[in-house]
Amino acid sequence: MKKIIHSLGWLAVLFSGMASAADTALQVYTRDTHSLNGEWRIIVDPYENGFYNYRYEPFDQQKNPSVNAFFTDSKMQKSTDLVEYDFDKAPTLQVPGDWNTQNEKLYYYEGSVWYRKTFDAPAMQDTDRAFVYFGAINYRADVYLNGKKLGVHVGGFTPFHYEITDKIKAQGNSLIIKVDNKRHADAVPTLNTDWWNYGGITRTVQLVIVPETFIRDYTIALTSLENKTVSGSVLIDGAKGGETVQLALPELNIKQTLKADKNGLASFRFSVPDAQLWSPENPQRYTVEFQSGADTLTDKVGLRTITTKGKQLLLNGEPLFLRGISVHEEYSAENGGRVRNKGEAKQLLLWAKDLNANFVRLAHYPHNEDMVRLADEMGLLVWSEIPVYWTINWTNEATYQNAEDQLSAMIERDKNRAAIIIWSLANETPVSDARNRFLARLAKKARSLDNTRLLSAAMEKHYRSDNPNIAVVEDPLAELVDLVSFNQYIGWYDGLPEKAEHVTWEIPYNKPVFISEFGGGAKQGYHGDANTIWTEEYQESIYLKTLAMLDKIDGYVGTSPWILADFRSPRRLLNGIQDDFNRKGVVSNKGIKKKAFYVLRDYYQEKAKPATQE
Ligand code: GCU
Repeated sequence: MKKIIHSLGWLAVLFSGMASAADTALQVYTRDTHSLNGEWRIIVDPYENGFYNYRYEPFDQQKNPSVNAFFTDSKMQKSTDLVEYDFDKAPTLQVPGDWNTQNEKLYYYEGSVWYRKTFDAPAMQDTDRAFVYFGAINYRADVYLNGKKLGVHVGGFTPFHYEITDKIKAQGNSLIIKVDNKRHADAVPTLNTDWWNYGGITRTVQLVIVPETFIRDYTIALTSLENKTVSGSVLIDGAKGGETVQLALPELNIKQTLKADKNGLASFRFSVPDAQLWSPENPQRYTVEFQSGADTLTDKVGLRTITTKGKQLLLNGEPLFLRGISVHEEYSAENGGRVRNKGEAKQLLLWAKDLNANFVRLAHYPHNEDMVRLADEMGLLVWSEIPVYWTINWTNEATYQNAEDQLSAMIERDKNRAAIIIWSLANETPVSDARNRFLARLAKKARSLDNTRLLSAAMEKHYRSDNPNIAVVEDPLAELVDLVSFNQYIGWYDGLPEKAEHVTWEIPYNKPVFISEFGGGAKQGYHGDANTIWTEEYQESIYLKTLAMLDKIDGYVGTSPWILADFRSPRRLLNGIQDDFNRKGVVSNKGIKKKAFYVLRDYYQEKAKPATQE
């Protein structure tokens, strides 16, 4: 059995590997925070006139920045003052939300938009500390508070925060962010993606007020199935060493007093023989309470193990079949773009549940935290991925560091979500020595941060040169991962649907096999015979013939067809059919189910039956 040895080591590495507590995640989701969501003033700045002087020198590198540096939020003082912007007279955008679907003029915009939020500080004790937390901003954010630069964050799908204790004022704070969604060859993702480059403050912004010494982060996991051992760590920020932490899981009669070391780290380990293990059928979660000094942090966690044994995938030691669907973080029913709230996230997952799915492949970047927490609650297993997509610049060290930062941030945020069973490193990346080295480094980093989950990545297939009916999945990446996953498009990019009746597969690894994408496009409501492309009938025939083919693959443990819902892509330009949408959804962008939806739903209904009944 490929036992993933659960040890405290990965927990301690997760924390002690950081230079200081300031580098680790800030768990805020379950805290009482102060929302800065809602209307923000914005200035569209295509030439970044508010960031550079006319010599193209950044204002924020100057000792006395010009009043025309937008982050100073300056106002005319005298009637002769030349101030060429005014946030108070500027239009607004909703946060969270992409700018592309909120303002016609910004539909195709790729560039910088300045956002400003003014606010008064919430009630604070003198010794309290204050942080500003961002769920995500796509793609680069230059962040300023009251004219002082807090920092720069790159990466469009992971959270970040800044401590503002010594910058926040009781009243009249001005939080200003330059958001730049321009694409770059060295970025992650790179220039070319099959999704819309939605720009903006696309996720929540929260003020977090905590005591001087507070509970910054924790990890917890079922680290041994045999005697239901739970291991974990908790990190106190502001610790002097020796602080005590009360840990309780009330429903399991667990109460422990822990002692933090000089780094504020305290570890724990106990058995929970009566615990019900988390599974899609029974997404049992338990309350976890940490208390230290004046601070408490409470959360709900599921306890489960995910392992492999040869070609078997095992959840809590039992064979698991992944009845999946791929999902973009997009809800376009009311012409929206990026998911903006919990309700939209829930609707996507409810459609997945309607499919009898037990698994969602959250493509191609970490989704918002609502999505993964709802999956925990609703009993949907999750594949979570960083946007190392297609032709990344494999030889650029800054590109690697960016990918690794996004991987670390994804794992730090979601490491306590039982629903997440797979960290995915990449999607459809062309094989090369540089790419293999890049991904091997990422795989090593992922395992050092969390060895309680599986690694995977969507690879590609090719045909045997001597036999066009034998498809092969052979990729050095397969040696690095626990689950051999690949995308294939027989019936769409690769021949006609009936080709699936003649193809057999060679996948020379003693590992479980997962088909991370298949499918084809259909315009909802366009009907014809199964030989007419873009009809629902054509898409339906791809599903029927592909699913029959997949059932014959040795080691087949599931699939996540591409994709749950139609989504915007600048690559999908066929007027009258695509109209900026990739039409491979089994649900239209207006939320209407296509015929293929029902094929997949019935297939999964059969798969969900206990083995004896199949
Ligand atoms: C690829 C890719 C997806 C893309 C899909 C398509 O497999 O992983 O991101 O949208 O194919 O072409 O529709």
